[in-house]
Amino acid sequence: MDSKEAIYLYKSVPTEELSKLANDITLKNYSDKIFVRGLLEFSNYCGMDCLYCGIRKSNSKAVRYRLTDEEIIETIKFGLDANIKTFVLQSGEDYNYNVKELSKLVYKIKKITGSETAITLSCGLMNKERYKELKDNGCDRYLMRFETSDENVYSYLKKGQSLKTRIQGLENLKNLGFEVGSGFMVGLPGETIETRINNALLCKELELDMIGIGPFIPHDETPLKEEDSGSLDTILRTTALLRILLPYTNIPATTATGSIDALGREKALSCGANVLMPNITPTKYKKNYLLYPGKICLEESGFECISCLSGRVESVGKKISYEKGNSLSYSIKKIREKRQ
Ligand code: 5AD
Ligand code: FES
Repeated sequence: MDSKEAIYLYKSVPTEELSKLANDITLKNYSDKIFVRGLLEFSNYCGMDCLYCGIRKSNSKAVRYRLTDEEIIETIKFGLDANIKTFVLQSGEDYNYNVKELSKLVYKIKKITGSETAITLSCGLMNKERYKELKDNGCDRYLMRFETSDENVYSYLKKGQSLKTRIQGLENLKNLGFEVGSGFMVGLPGETIETRINNALLCKELELDMIGIGPFIPHDETPLKEEDSGSLDTILRTTALLRILLPYTNIPATTATGSIDALGREKALSCGANVLMPNITPTKYKKNYLLYPGKICLEESGFECISCLSGRVESVGKKISYEKGNSLSYSIKKIREKRQ
């Protein structure tokens, strides 16, 4: 379907109908499989001061932590035992985390996990050389949301930073051969339906392999504490739009979506999402990676999350798949490149 038609539907069709359309595309391309990624929030140190974020530099109430390499490896081993084949290591934009150390860590992990697994990093914006070093050491995928396609809102939320630089970072990652993920928040102050449509079109333009979206949820220790949260209906409609525009991309049902509605993730899985990311961070640290309040799964272990998610997936008539789960869009790109 062309973009114009998709936007027309986004603007005019009831959510249920839009969801059905998106779910049909998902079933056709992924059958009933839901890929799992083990999410490890390994450090909440952050050098940034984004207005929306609970672990922003200025939040002196955030209790900072960084897992040791040993703790990280132990957690990964736990994940391997639970059959997980993709690990997402996320941190704040922590410039104290030396990229050499990070590369060494990736190398160590990859040695244990082997080529049948994928390592994804989500550690923010870096220059091309640093990304290359991470790639050379075995990092397969990189996630970095652009948050909003509105340049003015972006620079307001990120204290004068430029959206163009962020997008250049995503382009660099793509050119280095990473599977690239990005995404945005829904319901940010100043956002309109046009912003959301432009967000989705930007995802398409960037040919993303993964797209994570979630509702903005105001955190009390940030300047946006008085703002409203994004709504579930908007998340579901936008997920459906993304699936219609990008039929071969991996789209997670995110924790933030599960945090504003007890069945938020199940609903997202029924309207275009095909990935879940159980949080396998050791429980003693989980509560300190609080980007927004009301985050779910803080008391549960990674093991509990994985078994809870299988039940949730079954409730919408789908099945957890323990495959590595490359994005179809990435595989198609690779085939195209080989042919040229
Ligand atoms: N509400 C919802 N999502 C948030 N994120 C950061 N702060 C919030 C918030 N207050 C999201 C951003 C970031 C991702 C890791 O978490 O989109 O990229
Ligand atoms: Fe964590 Fe359900 S996914 S407890």
